[in-house]
Amino acid sequence: MPTLFDPITLGAIEAPNRILMAPLTRGRSTRTHVPTPMMAAYYAQRASAGLIISEATGISQIGLGWPYAPGLWSQEQVAAWQPITQAVHEAGGRIVAQLWHMGRLVHPSVGGAQPVSSSATTGPGDAHTYEGRQPYTQARALEIDEIPGLLNDYRLAARHAIAAGFDGVQVHAANGYLIDQFLRDNANFRDDAYGGPIENRIRLLKEVTQAVADTVGADRTGVRLSPNGNSQGVNDSNPVALFTAASAALSNIGIAFLELREPGLNGTFGVGEVPPIAPAIRKVFKGKLILNSDYDAARAQAALDSGVADAIAFGRTFLANPDLPRRFAKNIPLAADDMATWYSQGPKGYIDYAAAE
Ligand SMILES: Cc1cc2nc3c(=O)[nH]c(=O)nc-3n(C[C@H](O)[C@H](O)[C@H](O)COP(=O)(O)O)c2cc1C
Repeated sequence: MPTLFDPITLGAIEAPNRILMAPLTRGRSTRTHVPTPMMAAYYAQRASAGLIISEATGISQIGLGWPYAPGLWSQEQVAAWQPITQAVHEAGGRIVAQLWHMGRLVHPSVGGAQPVSSSATTGPGDAHTYEGRQPYTQARALEIDEIPGLLNDYRLAARHAIAAGFDGVQVHAANGYLIDQFLRDNANFRDDAYGGPIENRIRLLKEVTQAVADTVGADRTGVRLSPNGNSQGVNDSNPVALFTAASAALSNIGIAFLELREPGLNGTFGVGEVPPIAPAIRKVFKGKLILNSDYDAARAQAALDSGVADAIAFGRTFLANPDLPRRFAKNIPLAADDMATWYSQGPKGYIDYAAAE
């Protein structure tokens, strides 16, 4: 079995190790969702990751509800991403863009219009807005004749990702956002071809992934799912059946990698409600399988040893440990991150974590 320090081929991407950086929203773009130069320093510092999966990046204004998060729908955004991907490459790294549509979790004061979802539902709790936390508002159900336009938004963002110098893309289908709102049966009440039985609820995921794969190549396409419990109010009555069907469909499209965010039943950032579905997904997904949530070096190596995963994505540990692979290799103690600066603006808690001596 491979070690965390062995290289891995992820489709067209050759990663020198299996310690990947999970997508981490940091809120360091402008109010109009344009990346800033500080982001080049941040990502370049983390270039020793086998692969960096970027922070979630909006495919459209209506799909982006996170203050100061970046987008990929305009030329200005593409131009601002270019020095960032270039800095990563010059530092010896690789980076893919996580493509994001938040669906009902977009507050109209950020997205500019009533949010859209599979059905007319409201996210639980409060949205992040420029005026602080505000209750979510009810989404409207996407009309079936709006789906082609949505697919075009994904195609355009994927094309822009390549133009911006990314090595590929990851479709964000996890964490209760738009695609997850179609997948799971407590949020999708449609009675058309996109609702009801599992084969219908996975249709949008399949169509988005196919559209993106047709645009950038399946060998530069990945997907993220969060199968094992409630994510921001979205949940399913039969997650094993749903997510194995979804993963088999993604396998047929031939994507390079699938990343599963599955917190354990005692997770420290989200809690799983059922055991991880990864073992069942492993049997039906033929590409590279990446696992995430609450891994340390020992647990990560154990997952590789057991054969359930090909690589591990680390989230919070990369915040304060830009040189995480080297720290793991040399058993250097890990620095602690500061939650107050996760989404704050400015360099503090962002680019001021030093590599170990
Ligand atoms: C500050 C922060 C920002 C995050 N942003 C994203 C994101 O943009 N996209 C995403 O899919 N997950 C996001 N997550 C979830 C992480 O990718 C990851 O699933 C989670 O931190 C659990 O992994 P860990 O235990 O290694 O930290 C975020 C988590 C944190 C702590």
